[in-house]
Amino acid sequence: MNAEFQINGTSLETARLLLRPFRQSDLQDFYEYASVEGVGEMAGWRHHESIEKTREILDHFIREDKTFAIVLGETGKVIGSLGVEKYGMEGALTEFDGYRGREIGYVLSKDYWGKGLMPEAVSAVIQYLFDTWDLDFLTCGYYDFNAQSKRVQEKCGFRPYRKLVMDTRLGTKEPGVLNLLINPKKKIKFVFSHPETLIYKED
Ligand SMILES: CC(C)(COP(=O)(O)OP(=O)(O)OC[C@H]1O[C@@H](n2cnc3c(N)ncnc32)[C@H](O)[C@@H]1OP(=O)(O)O)[C@@H](O)C(=O)NCCC(=O)NCCS
Repeated sequence: MNAEFQINGTSLETARLLLRPFRQSDLQDFYEYASVEGVGEMAGWRHHESIEKTREILDHFIREDKTFAIVLGETGKVIGSLGVEKYGMEGALTEFDGYRGREIGYVLSKDYWGKGLMPEAVSAVIQYLFDTWDLDFLTCGYYDFNAQSKRVQEKCGFRPYRKLVMDTRLGTKEPGVLNLLINPKKKIKFVFSHPETLIYKED
């Protein structure tokens, strides 16, 4: 099942980054990276064609309080986002009944790709969610064309879980992979449903 989660003013520090709740004053930085074509599209949403669109999403992030702003420590600039989302198909994925989890999603400004920043951010959030929120598992997905995101998830310890055709916010469907990470402190053995899409290999 999906666990309750809210950022509640928490900030997390890594070697190079600060993760904190979004603020209204992040509008310009957010628009700067979200308006670049080919960034959001890799995560299934259209790049922002106006600052009004960015404002709408920013308001949503602030209201929902589950998406961290990724801030570069050196400059204080917001260079991405990391959401602690609800995983989908909750009713169908019966292996998670009685266990608490969420799904991670993220985007980084194109100017900062290839420096290992997103693995750094994702690792910090994983640790926080497993240690402080005591979650049992996390999921994270990528579309088959997105080798970069696949690598981030591999580097953060996620394992292939299901091969699925996923809906995008562009109204299309894309084949992809949903990954799973089980809290290593809890020796959970899930009883998996839907073998037709299952690709998880246990130790
Ligand atoms: C996916 C994303 C977050 C990766 O973040 P990152 O901080 O660049 O991650 P890394 O530096 O660890 O790079 C990951 C892989 O991308 C590849 N890569 C790095 N820079 C790249 C570039 N400029 N162009 C293409 N690929 C690149 C590398 O192969 C790297 O793997 P490696 O470490 O094995 O060499 C970032 O590319 C992004 O925001 N993409 C658009 C949104 C998106 O895809 N979100 C995820 C949806 S599931």
